[in-house]
Amino acid sequence: ILNKYLFDEKAYDYHDAAYKALVVPKTKVHSLRIPKILEADKIQGDTIYYTIRAQTGETQILDGKPTATWGYDASVLGPLIKFVSGKHYHLTLINNLPEVTTWHWHGLDIPGPIEDGGPHAPVRPGEKKEIEFDINQQTMTAWLHPHPCPHTAEQVWHGLAAPVAVINPADNLPQIPHDWGIDDIPIIFQDRTFHDNQLDYQSDYDMDGTLGDTALVNGTANAEFTVTRPWLRLRVLNGANRRELRLNSNDNITMTQIASDGGFLPHAVPLTKLMLTCAERAELLLDFSSYKTGDQVVLKADDTPILRLKVGDFTEDNRSQLPATLKQIERGFTGGATHKVVMAGMDDSVRINDKLYDMTRIDDQQVMGKNEIWDVSNTNDDMPGMGMIHPFHMHGMSFLVLSRNGHDPYPNEFGFKDTIGVNPGEHVRLLVRFSVPGIFMYHCHILEHEDTGMMAQIEVIDPAH
Ligand code: C2O
Ligand code: CU
Repeated sequence: ILNKYLFDEKAYDYHDAAYKALVVPKTKVHSLRIPKILEADKIQGDTIYYTIRAQTGETQILDGKPTATWGYDASVLGPLIKFVSGKHYHLTLINNLPEVTTWHWHGLDIPGPIEDGGPHAPVRPGEKKEIEFDINQQTMTAWLHPHPCPHTAEQVWHGLAAPVAVINPADNLPQIPHDWGIDDIPIIFQDRTFHDNQLDYQSDYDMDGTLGDTALVNGTANAEFTVTRPWLRLRVLNGANRRELRLNSNDNITMTQIASDGGFLPHAVPLTKLMLTCAERAELLLDFSSYKTGDQVVLKADDTPILRLKVGDFTEDNRSQLPATLKQIERGFTGGATHKVVMAGMDDSVRINDKLYDMTRIDDQQVMGKNEIWDVSNTNDDMPGMGMIHPFHMHGMSFLVLSRNGHDPYPNEFGFKDTIGVNPGEHVRLLVRFSVPGIFMYHCHILEHEDTGMMAQIEVIDPAH
């Protein structure tokens, strides 16, 4: 069982003057908010119709006055949006917000840039837009968030983010718990600061990434969930603007990681401490069979409790045998082009390959269907003690991590990913293959860094055209 954080401890511990530690919110205990499952408007053959509204609302987060928040078909965050591989989706996107937004499908392999929902796909206030795409990928957990550069960070801060689950009957593992809200729950980690119970992004803004002092899980402060079956699947998403999530628990319960961003790992990895940078996901399996009714496991971010898992009476036994190999993943690779990406800078000078983003920027090209190497480095090490981790994210596909500074990646990085934390002074080698054509972004997922312009684009060419 791996009982240390896998990242180099000194590298991620970047605390500048503005750094805020998390504090325990002074509120009563709230039961963990569980997003509902989005219902289809209709199903016609293999086409599924969904409508998703971005809207304003009010959410009871702290005691007393509710907080003005934004959400997708909800006052905050949004429903679980389920996609089945092999199906066609028709989406109606309605913007009921007072400003332009976009619907970005983080982790989905859909042709960009309009369906993918980056800054090229604005939906104006009061507007309604229809998009269509096919889903053809592995079973995985993704998420929906806005991406209207330079307002992504502020819109996510207000509450726009929703969990997404792809199910592919070819690689799904039905023995893993999947009863949403019972033994399969999302853990959307975010931090916010409240001013008289309200959010005030402008006053909390930090160009190195905005931090809050209050941890929320699924928009819930001081959250509690009752465990009613021995196996509990957590779909953990670091949905924070800037804060790394260092997840651990009061009694070091084993958290068996079964999936990373892009789907199941080749083998389960038992951990007691898990670090996720912004936008990374991990699916964890916790086994409560040795606990008794009334016991509690407290999940923590650093030293701050974020979710109390209270063991209730078990209503059924959902344990089964995990296969020794969760997923066959071919890592062999020969030949192909190498692409270089340099992430650098701090404060207002963050850059990719020394340039700022604009919508016409195309840095690179890749042929669809071809394996190619991406060599991604973080050169902040020229300021000793000042480096930040930049979570590097690519749109349009999931990649494999070949190495970190020439060494094997961490044990829980052997599956597909779409976001990877790159330590200061480190370079990671990625194996990248796109299966859909289009223009795709790649960027730092510290939301204030991407809004500042730490984003670039690649054009993926379909050789048949
Ligand atoms: Cu999660 Cu370009 O974004
Ligand atoms: Cu960054």
